[in-house]
Amino acid sequence: MSLTNFPGSSSSAGGPAGFSLPKVTMPALLEMKRQGKPISSLTAYDYSTARLVDEAGIDLILVGDSLAQVVLGHENTLAVTVDEMLHHTRAVRRAVRRALVVADMPFGSYHGRVAEGVANAVRFIKEAGAEAVKMEGPRVELVRELVDAEIPVVGHLGLTPQSVHRMGGYRVQARSDEAAARLRADAHLLAEAGAGLLVLEGVPREVAARITAELAIPTIGIGAGPDCDGQILVFHDLVNLTFAPPAKFVRRYGDAAALFRDAVERYREDVEHRAFPSDKESYHLPARKTVIEMPEDADAVVNWDARQDLDEFGAA
Ligand code: KIV
Repeated sequence: MSLTNFPGSSSSAGGPAGFSLPKVTMPALLEMKRQGKPISSLTAYDYSTARLVDEAGIDLILVGDSLAQVVLGHENTLAVTVDEMLHHTRAVRRAVRRALVVADMPFGSYHGRVAEGVANAVRFIKEAGAEAVKMEGPRVELVRELVDAEIPVVGHLGLTPQSVHRMGGYRVQARSDEAAARLRADAHLLAEAGAGLLVLEGVPREVAARITAELAIPTIGIGAGPDCDGQILVFHDLVNLTFAPPAKFVRRYGDAAALFRDAVERYREDVEHRAFPSDKESYHLPARKTVIEMPEDADAVVNWDARQDLDEFGAA
């Protein structure tokens, strides 16, 4: 059984009742662009959130290197390793039935020789079950080689966080005519090299709109305005788990920090006041047995109390 072939599903994704949409593939995303259907996309880094994101019908799940910051607590994305990204991609892969799973290639894993970049990309497909890899910058030769090796590629241009030191911080890119023209040229080069999707991050709406109109492949925007073919956000931004004020382009759809904090504080208080666990949340010894005395040659008859204990670990 392949990891994307879940029991009871063939071309459709299995899952909860009513959840039987067709599996999202790279060609399916291209078709969505052709039909003018917006592509929804989010990051996820672990089994439980990936499952929720997938079951909510999001089309593309990126195991982003932003996990370095939002999950591992690093200052930027540069420190995360291939092995760490593989570990998280595997967890996401186990959870996802419908969405396309894309793994982000971390800093240093494709910046040297092209052959090394291909070898690292192969690991994401082979060892973690990713269906495409994403990389930052106009790595045209590498994209060509990956496509030649049957690995679908997602490009990423504009504000590319792995270039934080070169950019001197996280700044909106392509604001001048010259920089916008360079960005457009890079976008065309990546598409011609065979990239199947292009993430545009932190660029003026007008620039993203023009690139989106010019390219045949879908663009996915983050801080790039509403005219891209799809949108992506970091999951932790969406639900307020980042411990920092959100960037301008982030819309918060929930407050997981408040929800988690409240649950944890109430639990702590209950423990401190011996209000948790209750007797109902406790296991009990088996009911006491009564032995009825019989004549010496007869076996003792054992009579169990009629106590209704459920399975040892069963729910109440
Ligand atoms: O790592 C990441 O989260 C990204 C963004 C484009 C969402 O690359």
